[in-house]
Amino acid sequence: MDVSPNTFTDLCVRALELCALKEGEVMAVLTQGDEKLDYANAMLAAGEKLGATTLHVRLPHVSTSLSGDMGQWTVGATPLAANRPALEALKAADLVIDTMFLLFSKEQLEIQDAGARILLVIEPVEHLIQLFPTREQRERVEYGGELLGKAQTLRFTNEYGTDVTYQLGAYPVITEYGYTDTPGRWDHWPSGFLFTGGSDDGVDGKVVLAPGDIIYPFKMYARTPVEFTIERGRIVDIRGELDAEIVRDYMASFNDEKAYGIAHIGWGMNEKARWSYMATDSRGLGMHGRAFYGNVLFSTGPNQEFGGGNDTQCHVDMPMRNCSLYLDDEPIVMSGDIVVEELKAPGFVPVGAR
Ligand SMILES: [Fe+2]
Repeated sequence: MDVSPNTFTDLCVRALELCALKEGEVMAVLTQGDEKLDYANAMLAAGEKLGATTLHVRLPHVSTSLSGDMGQWTVGATPLAANRPALEALKAADLVIDTMFLLFSKEQLEIQDAGARILLVIEPVEHLIQLFPTREQRERVEYGGELLGKAQTLRFTNEYGTDVTYQLGAYPVITEYGYTDTPGRWDHWPSGFLFTGGSDDGVDGKVVLAPGDIIYPFKMYARTPVEFTIERGRIVDIRGELDAEIVRDYMASFNDEKAYGIAHIGWGMNEKARWSYMATDSRGLGMHGRAFYGNVLFSTGPNQEFGGGNDTQCHVDMPMRNCSLYLDDEPIVMSGDIVVEELKAPGFVPVGAR
């Protein structure tokens, strides 16, 4: 796809309109090194068009492989930690456009606590277009958030032997619908899912990845089942063939007991996202995979993004297909299809049902 700077700027205007950026507000764009300067240019131009006061906070160092295309993807540690003036500038903004990936960092929480809303914009432009957020999807994601917020337990299963239960209530629900107009709230363009966390010692059972389930940040489809045994919120065993060995070795490489914690749990609701997309385009963090409609997104590692105490840098996201998910024994997703009427995407027919 050929996207001109003008087209990208227009797209950013629409995104900032969804974020309710208005005249007199301050919008700050955060970048580092030479990365994402085209994003900064488009966002700054878009912000000016909407009458906002804009500024660009550009840090000198490149902390990690942001795109996830190479190297180890560590989370939570950013060069902003050592740059108080930059952090203060961001805290003074109404809207922060983060192109650096502050998620899981203390600095992000500090910016949010100061009242700034934060939009993460880091994915390839084509993905930003394909999965562009809508108000309609926001309503569905927020309704899902209400159901998840009321539930005491979340259980999910699949045909490969997954049967795991999360005790809920200790942590809030986080919705991600791709934009944010709420002070202090974070979101990620593009998204389309929601999640929460089980209580620290309240996740028990087995999760078995099926062939075809996705493992991030490896950006690979599991070829063989990977069986995680979870006791009291900790992974105690990882069993299987080659894919299990890769997961086991990756987690061990952090030398961190907290790497075996359980992170967020939820389901995907973006009918425009495709499970198969990564087969031909593996750029970016992988929001097609994380958001595709009817997935169950199982993840391990840190939980401080929703207020927990696990700050490990080892985070693995595993969007799973064909799962059934229950809240207090009420079916929400059955065999990879959303079954609650209010949560269904209008007119959308899952591939498996064609
Ligand atoms: Fe995650």
